[in-house]
Amino acid sequence: MGRLDGKVAVISGAARGQGRAHAVRLAAEGADIVAFDICSNLAYPLTPPASPEDLKETAAQVEALDRRCLSRVTDARDLTSLTALADEAVAEFGRVDALVVNHGIWTVDRNSWELPEESWQESIDVLLTGSWKVQKAFVPKIVAGARGGAVVFTSSVNAVVPQPGAVAYCAAKSGIQMLMKVLARELGPHDIRVNTVNPGSVSTAMHEGGTIERSLEYFPRGLDRGARAALEGSQTLPPSAIADAVAWLVSDEARYVTGALIPVDSGFLTG
Ligand SMILES: NC(=O)c1ccc[n+]([C@@H]2O[C@H](COP(=O)([O-])OP(=O)(O)OC[C@H]3O[C@@H](n4cnc5c(N)ncnc54)[C@H](O)[C@@H]3O)[C@@H](O)[C@H]2O)c1
Repeated sequence: MGRLDGKVAVISGAARGQGRAHAVRLAAEGADIVAFDICSNLAYPLTPPASPEDLKETAAQVEALDRRCLSRVTDARDLTSLTALADEAVAEFGRVDALVVNHGIWTVDRNSWELPEESWQESIDVLLTGSWKVQKAFVPKIVAGARGGAVVFTSSVNAVVPQPGAVAYCAAKSGIQMLMKVLARELGPHDIRVNTVNPGSVSTAMHEGGTIERSLEYFPRGLDRGARAALEGSQTLPPSAIADAVAWLVSDEARYVTGALIPVDSGFLTG
């Protein structure tokens, strides 16, 4: 018996990293999965792009757990495609219960006043407007099921703690906090809970393979890596640590938790 038996969970940015960890973890809890990702390059992030093969690997890992996985290459900025995917998900599985808005890019560039407009716009479009579009496409399916449900946005400690050189990322993640709170109020009458999970540093492509080093080249004062974490020896977390929190947030064990910011950061936000 899994905590999500018979349920369907949608995950954005699911080709790799935390999104894949969420897909596999929620499948292990019994959910069928709708996994989507842009699987291609954007202009400004430090991170190399995910590939369609990465997304196929996520689907294979879900299917290895004897769960179904509908996987599609879809851009969180494209509302028409998102809406079509939401329709396809309901046609395939008959319901949507949980939505994990996880996709993201991380750009560390220049001081706020030196940043190219296109770089600002790309981060805001992907992170903030893209999160709004993903919920716009999928939340109506959860509401229509009339069984309650859960939405989790992946935010960041940078929703609270500023990072020089990452103004668009910080502003977008901070905006996601209020998107979450407004939605929590709006969806309460439908018994749909809405929260954010706020990771510290996580060992994914976003922070591995030299991206931290490249960010320091752009902006040497940009990172105070883990210096303020309360727990010693756990500065960079495995993706499974965030998936554990997401699995709890979408389960009935969190049935009275809504409108909350849940840090998974070794206590970074205590500093
Ligand atoms: N890694 C960290 O240290 C860290 C810390 C705090 C928050 N986060 C957040 O965690 C989330 C997951 O990131 P990750 O660490 O797994 O990094 P990642 O780069 O491995 O995964 C992000 C995924 O999002 C996808 N994506 C990007 N833009 C998209 C779009 N427009 N439409 C659909 N998919 C898109 C990428 O292709 C990629 O597969 C992000 O929201 C990120 O901001 C990460």
